[in-house]
Amino acid sequence: MTVRLVSNEKIAETSSKGNQEKWFDHGWWYKLDQFGYEALTETFTSMILEQSNIEGDTPFQFARYRMERLHVHGRDRTGCSSENFLKPGQAIVTLSHLFRQHLGHPLKEELERLSSDKKRIAYLAEETAAITGLREFPEYLTLLFEIDSLVLNDDRHLNNIAVIEQNGHYDYCPIFDQGAGLLSNVQFSPMDIATPALIRELRARPFNMTFNRQLHTVQELYGKQLRIPRFTSDELMQDLRPLLEYYASRDRGLIADRVCDTILMRQKEL
Ligand SMILES: Nc1ncnc2c1ncn2[C@@H]1O[C@H](COP(=O)(O)OP(=O)(O)O)[C@@H](O)[C@H]1O
Ligand SMILES: [Mg+2]
Repeated sequence: MTVRLVSNEKIAETSSKGNQEKWFDHGWWYKLDQFGYEALTETFTSMILEQSNIEGDTPFQFARYRMERLHVHGRDRTGCSSENFLKPGQAIVTLSHLFRQHLGHPLKEELERLSSDKKRIAYLAEETAAITGLREFPEYLTLLFEIDSLVLNDDRHLNNIAVIEQNGHYDYCPIFDQGAGLLSNVQFSPMDIATPALIRELRARPFNMTFNRQLHTVQELYGKQLRIPRFTSDELMQDLRPLLEYYASRDRGLIADRVCDTILMRQKEL
């Protein structure tokens, strides 16, 4: 089925890698693929998280994404959708916004004064907890970095980490926007370069260090949070196959190889 998005209104969101076109319609957010197969990445990542300990053993939640064919500006396109996770009266406050309000200057300046990566991660985790009263924010941040490390999401800028605010009271935001993972950006990660070489070049955000360094540093500070089953390539392919149908048949084999190689390699680091 194709969803028709008749509104021409764009909702712009600053991102380090540009803006994916998106719409809010009848309680659902729709995002179009922009640089590659972001929708498959969002959907596949939320399928993996569905099999994790997140909503069973932790106070945190994650947004579910599903694949969509979207009729936009007269064309059929691929994208994904997620149900609005905000309840009436709630607002999303990104960390970039939260710290600007709290400090009166950008967080980046504060972080630059600190002398090590470990201190910077601890500052972000513990200062957010102090400002919001969310005592388990360090564990939440650890979980985010673990997910990013698993799927190699290199777009965790400070607008993709957020809390929910309602009448001056804060809550944990469902984890969202992993679409840059799994090498989905085929401009930054061209299809003709082998996966291991692409992976070596990637850096984790928001601290611009290797994924392993960010992962191991945050886990040393706050302990391991994310638990997932160890996947085989057959298991991954079973979940992936229906999602690949949304892409040109010539690209499916390559996308599948990149996605499976990434998860098989990265799950060992967790
Ligand atoms: N399911 C959702 N529920 C509530 N708000 C959402 C949802 N999806 C997106 N948004 C809003 O849209 C913004 C951008 O979404 P995001 O997934 O980060 O898109 P992009 O990949 O373009 O950065 C979020 O910061 C949030 O305000
Ligand atoms: Mg975003």
